[in-house]
Amino acid sequence: MTDVRKLRILIVDDQSAQTGALCDVLRQYQYEAEGCGSAESALERLQAQSFDLMLSDLNMPGMDGIELVKAAMQRDPDLACIIMTGEGSIATAVRAMQAGALDYIVKPFKASSLLPVLARAQATRSLRLANAELERQLRLNVIELAEANQRLEQARTAAEHANAEKSRFLSNMSHELRTPLNGILGFAQILAADKLPATQLEKQRFARNIVQSGQHLLKLVNEILDLARIEAGKVPLAIEAVDLPTVLQECRMMVTPLAAKHDVSLGFGAVPPLRLRADRTRLVQVLINLLSNAIKYNREQGKVAVACSAAEGQRLRISVTDTGPGLDADQLQHIFQPFNRLARDEAEEGSGLGLALTRRVVEAMQGFVGVESKPGQGSTFWIELQLAPETTQLVQHA
Ligand SMILES: Nc1ncnc2c1ncn2[C@@H]1O[C@H](COP(=O)(O)OP(=O)(O)OP(=O)(O)O)[C@@H](O)[C@H]1O
Ligand SMILES: [Mg+2]
Repeated sequence: MTDVRKLRILIVDDQSAQTGALCDVLRQYQYEAEGCGSAESALERLQAQSFDLMLSDLNMPGMDGIELVKAAMQRDPDLACIIMTGEGSIATAVRAMQAGALDYIVKPFKASSLLPVLARAQATRSLRLANAELERQLRLNVIELAEANQRLEQARTAAEHANAEKSRFLSNMSHELRTPLNGILGFAQILAADKLPATQLEKQRFARNIVQSGQHLLKLVNEILDLARIEAGKVPLAIEAVDLPTVLQECRMMVTPLAAKHDVSLGFGAVPPLRLRADRTRLVQVLINLLSNAIKYNREQGKVAVACSAAEGQRLRISVTDTGPGLDADQLQHIFQPFNRLARDEAEEGSGLGLALTRRVVEAMQGFVGVESKPGQGSTFWIELQLAPETTQLVQHA
């Protein structure tokens, strides 16, 4: 759309007859002209309204044309200023141009000589404005480019991090797979070597070891596959409203023998009659891992306490607290990573994938996991899951 607005010009001259005549002439040439008798009143006008051009006398009582140009351009750097000067003061007019005026015209002048000066000044002003717009665009582009670069850098760092994680995972996995495999091969070789003196009892022991290592290997492989499938988002979750008391009771029955074996007592606090949005089988898997960890990594005659509490955003928190050795800050940082078994717990059976699976499964169910622990003071592992819609009311009043 073309701009049809008339150009606005401010004429500043202490001789009002001169100003009035000039305004009249310029109005005939499609200018919107306004006159001012002093530099001071011109500045007030410029403050109140925006002008495209200013045509100012050089010598005026009070503030002169040069000072006016400086002050006006400070307010609006794009204002096109032209100085009117007498024959003898051209050198001063040059000073005015150095102060920012675009041009000067020697008095007295005719309209025919003023108009080209105004047109030139206006053209320069348009160029300046276009230039300023280009600069603004350029600055915007530079900012956008910098932001894009930053995003790219972040993506690169994330990719490198993921790559390092994968490599670490692969090397840990090979190590974990090799241990039981070596066991199987070792015992099988003994059994296969006829020359070795082995009693029937020993042979049975070797065979048992092979079976145990094989089972461990199978569990490992299954869990690795499970982890990979969950990570790839390929595990279909059957989300339903799962009854909390029933699930906790089921888990309790399942871990009671392990608790008895480790001489650890189980305490389930008051379980609210709520239903959670979860995949039932996966929820049991998660809770069994937290409970069995709390039992396995506990002390003799230790305790495990399960508690339920309302959490933010219509969620319920299930916490499993133990009286075990606790974890320091470094251990806490890596505890949910795969194969992160602590050296002190090597005696306990496990593949080191339980917590990694727990985190991924809970997050896939739009929940959260976390842990609070201090060395020597036991640990509390917790999960938070959404409540099924019809039970959200209950927990608010709980
Ligand atoms: N409650 C706890 N207290 C202290 N250490 C714990 C606790 N839970 C887990 N850990 C430590 O974190 C490691 C990882 O636990 P995770 O459940 O992932 O694997 P795991 O129990 O070794 O094997 P599995 O895959 O059979 O669960 C454990 O080996 C143990 O060293
Ligand atoms: Mg575990």
